[in-house]
Formats: sequence, structure tokens, C-alpha cells
Amino acid sequence: METAEIRRRWLSFFEGKGHTVVPSASLVSPDPTLLFTVAGMVPFIPYLTGREPAPFERATSVQKCVRTLDIEEVGKTTRHGTFFQMNGNFSFGDYFKEKAIPWAWELVTTPQDQGGYGFAVEDLWVTVYEEDDEAYRIWTRDVGVAPERVQRLGAGTNYWSTGGPGPCGPCSEIFVDTGPANGRDGGPAVDEDRYIEIWNLVFMEFERGEGGDKNSFPVLGELPRKNIDTGMGLERVAYLLQGKDNMYEIDEVFPVIEAASAMAGVRYGADHDADVRLRVVADHVRSGLMLVGDGVRPGNEGRGYVLRRLLRRAVRAMRLLGVEEPSLAQLTRVSAERMARSYPELEADLGRVVEVVGTEEESFRRTLVSGTTILDTAVRETKAAGGQQVPAARAFQLHDTYGFPIDLTLEMAREQGVTVDEQGFRELMTEQKERARADARSKRTGAAAVGAYRDVLSASGPTDWQAYTTLTTTSSVLAVVDGVDPVPSAEVGRVVEVVLDRTPFYAESGGQSADAGTLVWDGGSAEVLDVQRPVKGLVVHQVRVLDGEITQGLQCEAAVDPQWRVDACQAHSGTHVVHAALRQVLGPSAQQSGSYNRPGYLRLDFGWKGGLSAQQRRDVEDVANLAVRDDLPVSAQWMTLPEAKDFGALALFGETYGEEVRVVEIGGPWSRELCGGTHVRRSSQVGPLVVTGESSVGAGNRRVEAVVGVEGFRYLARERDLVAQLTELMGTSQGDLVGRVGDMVGRLREADRELARTRTERVLAAAGPLAAAPTDVFGVACATHDAGEVASADDLRALALDVRGRLGAERPSVVAVGGVAKGRPLVVVATNERAREWGVKAGALVRTAAGVLGGGGGGKDDLAQGGGADASRLGEALTAVEHQVGAAVTS
Ligand code: SER
Repeated sequence: METAEIRRRWLSFFEGKGHTVVPSASLVSPDPTLLFTVAGMVPFIPYLTGREPAPFERATSVQKCVRTLDIEEVGKTTRHGTFFQMNGNFSFGDYFKEKAIPWAWELVTTPQDQGGYGFAVEDLWVTVYEEDDEAYRIWTRDVGVAPERVQRLGAGTNYWSTGGPGPCGPCSEIFVDTGPANGRDGGPAVDEDRYIEIWNLVFMEFERGEGGDKNSFPVLGELPRKNIDTGMGLERVAYLLQGKDNMYEIDEVFPVIEAASAMAGVRYGADHDADVRLRVVADHVRSGLMLVGDGVRPGNEGRGYVLRRLLRRAVRAMRLLGVEEPSLAQLTRVSAERMARSYPELEADLGRVVEVVGTEEESFRRTLVSGTTILDTAVRETKAAGGQQVPAARAFQLHDTYGFPIDLTLEMAREQGVTVDEQGFRELMTEQKERARADARSKRTGAAAVGAYRDVLSASGPTDWQAYTTLTTTSSVLAVVDGVDPVPSAEVGRVVEVVLDRTPFYAESGGQSADAGTLVWDGGSAEVLDVQRPVKGLVVHQVRVLDGEITQGLQCEAAVDPQWRVDACQAHSGTHVVHAALRQVLGPSAQQSGSYNRPGYLRLDFGWKGGLSAQQRRDVEDVANLAVRDDLPVSAQWMTLPEAKDFGALALFGETYGEEVRVVEIGGPWSRELCGGTHVRRSSQVGPLVVTGESSVGAGNRRVEAVVGVEGFRYLARERDLVAQLTELMGTSQGDLVGRVGDMVGRLREADRELARTRTERVLAAAGPLAAAPTDVFGVACATHDAGEVASADDLRALALDVRGRLGAERPSVVAVGGVAKGRPLVVVATNERAREWGVKAGALVRTAAGVLGGGGGGKDDLAQGGGADASRLGEALTAVEHQVGAAVTS
């Protein structure tokens, strides 16, 4: 049965049981505590916890998921995929175990010709949580599964949560026995390779707190309502129903294996190691496709890093298969051809996705070469020192600077017969992570105290957020948090975090920085330093108490600094204007990948290869300022996600189905973006917009920076002052300035050239006298000379060759000349053929001289050059050359 058919039967079965069919949410998790959507339930977390009313009581979906915890297992086992799809059915306070269990059994066992999956009852096993008598009873009594086929297991396997705070509960799993050839008898309790888990039914009744592990974690209490969350692994069911050995061979994945093996000229199934690599390629290419499709771009942190790692592992696997040429773009197309059957939006976006993947491969292939050199050097040094193990610092450098996944380093070292200090590497990684975490903690208001904020949210509900409508509110202080814990109050001088019932402050998000302002109460005030939203729905202010004491329960006036807000609006609208201008000038593929704006300043990152020309930069600035002049109306409206898509709004990543989104327009269709920020009312209020820079921020990504409003004016005023100073200095008018400076630079260059010519002539003038009176060193004519200040080593080389020519070929001769170029001592040595026959070689002599100067050098036997650091020892270095000539001919 094709994967698409399994998916279709799933949705239609549950639709028939009164479920709303919900499209897959983005892989970019809508839950801020998760990097990716790791399960079908993630988009529904607010409904499962009861924090938001569910728009439906029953839902069903096939959700795209990414999990990379078991990335090392990919390709080696039958069932680990970094990208997979989860079929799910959900009840939000509606039905519970009594329906979820029989329905699951019905769908799994109904024969295929009657619309089910047709698994044979004798192949099926079930597990339940050891204390869940109710589920056990339903399975054995109501459904009629033989009791010996229902196993009771502990919390490690049968109590499910996302791994962090959120809804949780006991679960029950359905397994398929793949036969004695694949492992031991005894059911899933004994062997999870033979018995493949296909479906997990979670009975979500409780809320998990922070801490603990999968075997034991704090349970905070019951959820307001009992929910059902089930997840069936689409790929697992597909490989079982398609009679394949593993999930990489199903119809949606195998074409990539075929394409990769054709490129590599290997036959799948002939060699175990090659097969594993082909499966890694197929899995990672598909994950890459789906992640880039959902707007993730390769980077060095968070989601971007995970994507980068996947793509680089795929490049490396292809390389180990013997494919040196770029291949990922082609393989991505093959994967997309399959995946587009379920995700048609991939087709329209394919050009961009392939470009991102190809650029990443290109950039890794570039560092692969330098990284390989670094590793080879490290291996050589290790061996030369009699060691066996490449130091951890090198592996870390390769990882950190050249983007080498550690297993690539391990593998490459192994090929050369040495190991790598992996333990040390992991310690360095942990240190780096700790640093990053500490950094994040120190930066992000509220990040440390998420637990405390969840409590406030449960007790008082979401913040009444007034940022769009007013700049001041009368508010009461719901909580004062010092570090991690709530405190009753904080006195003068303290920096604490404050939750208000109502606030006009904009919390940093969507690239817009937080508002500044004050809290004022009877007998005290505080300055607002930062505003964040550490948990959805709750706005947290980081404040410094300026006088008095801030206390829980206090009434205060929360006031945003009005000038700050005006400037912030200018910067944010300016960002949209620049984005639209960029797309107008460069075309629609110039898509924003990130942005940041604060009063007076904005920057915008966008996918684009190569720098902008001066003309393009001017055009962008011009288009932006014309839009400002045109005084376009700016408006915001709320709509559903599909409406926003139809409307053509940009940046549709990471939104959840069911939520309303906000679309901000400037001049109607001229600029339409999904955006939660604050904006000016008309484009003219942005004021002058000056592009101040355009630079690269990683492979295939550019950054435009600009200043707006009064900062834009000031920037231009500073440039005007600069021009005024220069015209005065040059004694000319503004119109003639460039010409005058150009003339001057030209004259200076000419003078420099003249000076160099004179120097060279002076240096070369020494040739005659030098050739006339060489020193005789045991029969070798030796001419040594300190030429003093020279323009470059070229002068010394010319002199050495001139003197060698004048000394003739008859008798052995050596010329050693030294000089100082730009403060650095240099030596050039030349030998004639007779001298070389006598064993006098320029390379060795230069090394001796350079050694005296505290440096190094080298070259051929007839001409060599070196340098050092200590110019005062030049005379000594030349004498050392003479001594060595003596030693060479007498030994
Ligand atoms: N949330 C559960 C899982 O991911 C069931 O959907 O396994």
C-alpha cells in the first residue's frame, strides 16, 4: 500500500468518526520550548493543556516531524528517521480510552479491502502502563485481545511527555511482530527490534513540570480535562505494509537511494557499509528538503545548525560513497518529486530550496578542503610526536571553524590509522554549550524562570496586552521575580522581573526590540530595561527600581517612552519598506531570512548569492525613499492563515492552524507581511532612510543595514560635514573634490613608484663593486652585502642574480645579500652551478641566515629567500652564510 494511501485511509477513518481534518503545521515548532515539531500533538499543546479553547473537540492530522536525538542510528536500524510523519487522532476533553482503544484496533485490523490496514491479529501485541488497569481492561475485555498479548510496562516506555513541561499521561502502544528471524520471542517487553511499535495512544490527564528524565519526572497535577493524543508512525506502517525491510525502502524514500547509488556507481544491497551510507543520504536529504521548505536555513545555532549538520552528513556520506561532485541539489529534486505528492507547496518553492541546499553543499565542500588539510597536519604532527591520538582541540577547531561533524573527523582520522580524543572533544563541546547557555540566560529576560511564569499564567491568565492601542495603562503587579524565584518585593537599585495584569509595552519579537519606559507608583518608580514573552501569553518586564519599593499587588502606571515608540515604529516600518524595495530591485527570490530593528536602526538578512552592486544598492535606497515620499497608508488586519496565504502575505513560516495572523500592509499590495510589530500610520513618517551597509552573513545570505528617521538625517549630516572638511582641506569646491583627491592619489602613487625605482637603482649600483672583490672561502668566491632599506625582496633578488652573473661560471660562487623591507629583514642567496657541484646550496644557506634572524625560509639550490624578525642581526646572518660555505666545502 502506498504511503499516500495509508495517509488517506487514516484521515478518512477519523473524519468518519467526527474528527476535523487539520493540515500539518510547520516543522518549526509553534511551541517556544521546542526547536522542532517533534510529535503530532505539538501544534495542539495549548488545547491539550486547556490554556486556549480548542476550536474543535476532535481532530486528526498527518503531521511532519523532525527528531534528531537518534541521528547516529539513522541507516543502521530499520526504523529511525530524522524526518517522519505522524498520523494522529486527538480528543480535547471529548472521548477518552473507551473509544480511542477500540478505534485503533479497528483501523489496524480491518482488512485492506474494507478500508483498513489489514494487520493479522496474530502478529499484534499491546503494552499498557503498569498501573493502568482501565486500559488493560478495555484491551482484554472490550476489544478481546488475548491477555498474554497485553504487557504491562513501566514509565520509561509507557508514560509519555514531550520531554519537558507540558501535558503528559500514561500510554498504550501497539506492536507488530516481524517474526523470529528478527529477534527473541517474548513480545515488546523483550525485543524492540523484532516487535515494531506502530502506534502510541497517550491518555493525557496530567501536566508535567520541569526536571526529571523519561523514567521519572514531576507531575504537577491533573489537566482541566482528559484528552487523547495518539501517534502512528506513517513510515513504519508503510514499510511493514509494503513488505520492505526498513523505512528507507518505502516509496517516498527509496528513489533517493536509487539516484544516489546510480551517481556512486554502487548497487544497493551489495555492501553493508555502502547501504548504510545510502540510507543516511536518503533520510538526510528528505529532512533537508522538508526543513528548508519550512523556512529553516543552515546556520550555526539552533534549528539552522541541525539542518547544517544533516546536510553536511549527507555530503560526507556521498563523498564516502566516492561521489566528489556536488550531488545534493539533484537528490533534493528527486526527493521533492516524491514528497510533493503529499506536500504540493514544495513544487512552487523547489527552486529556492534547491538553491539553499546547493549553496550549503558548496560552502561545506570548500571548508572540506581546508579542514582536511588541518586534519592531515594534525595527524602528521601526532605521528611525528610518537602519539596515536589527535588532540581534542583540533577536533573542536574542525567542528567549530570548518563545520566538520565529529563523526567525519573520527572517520577521517581512522582512515589514517589514528584516533581522536573524543572524550576531550565532548568536554569542549559541553563547555561551549554551557557558555552559550549562560550567555542566553544573561540576555533573555525571564528565560530562567519559565516555571514561575507558567504558575502566574495558570493563576491569572494571559497579560492584557495593549501595545497596539495605548502607551499608558494603570496596572497591578502580579508577580516580582528575582532570578528564578518569585519574591514579595524588591527595593531601590534592584533589577528584577515584573509581571503586570495589563501592559502597553511591546515585548521583543518579530525582530522589533522591546519598548523602553517606566513604571510609576505611589512612592516609587522603576525604569523598564527589557520586555520579553518567556511563555506564550505572558509579558515580562525587566526593571531597575529607581526609588521606593516594588511590591506584589501594587497599582502602578505603566508608561512607554512615547519618543522611543515613535522611533521604533519608524524602524519597523522602515524594515518592511527595505524588504519590499529589495524584492522590487532584485526580484521575489530575495526573501527575508531574519531582521532586527530598534529606534533609528534596522537590519534585514535575506537569501541572495554574491554582493549587491553599487547600482543595486542605490536602487534599493531610491525605491525605499520614493515609497516614503509617496506617503502610502500603513494598515494591519487579522485573518486566518489560509486567507493570509491567498492574500500573498510574506513569511508564512511557523504559524499554527486555527490561529489568526496579523498582516501589515504598506500601500496595499506594495508590501504585505505577516507581522506582529508596531508601525507608523503612513510611510512618510518613516523619514529619511539611508542604507549604511551591505555585507555577507554566511553562505548565500546577505545583510542590509540602514538608519531611519532623525538618525537617517544625522547620518547624512555627518557625511555633509565630512565633505565640508575635505573641501576646505583640499582648497576646492564640492564639485571638484573627487577630481582633486583622484589627482592627489595618482601623484602619490607616481611618487611612490619613483621612490622605489631610485631605491632599486641604488641597490643595484652595489653589483659592480661587489663582483669586483669577492671573499675567497676555500676556493669559493663569496660576495655578501647588506643593502640596507629596500622596497621589496625583488630588489635583493635582482642584485644577487646580477652579481652572480658578473662573477662568471668558471669558479664556484655564492652571493648572499640582505636588506630590510618594511621593517622586516630579508636575505637572498644565489649560487652558481660550480658551487652547487661543490655541495654549496642556496636553500640550506638561506635557512641558516634566516635562523639567525629568528625566522625561516627556503627555495631551490640555485636561488633561495628567507626572512626573520630581528633586523639588527643581518650582519651576523651574512657572516653565518660565509661560515657555512666554508663548512660545506671542507666537510
Ligand atoms: N505524542 C505521542 C508520541 O509522539 C503520541 O502521538 O508518541
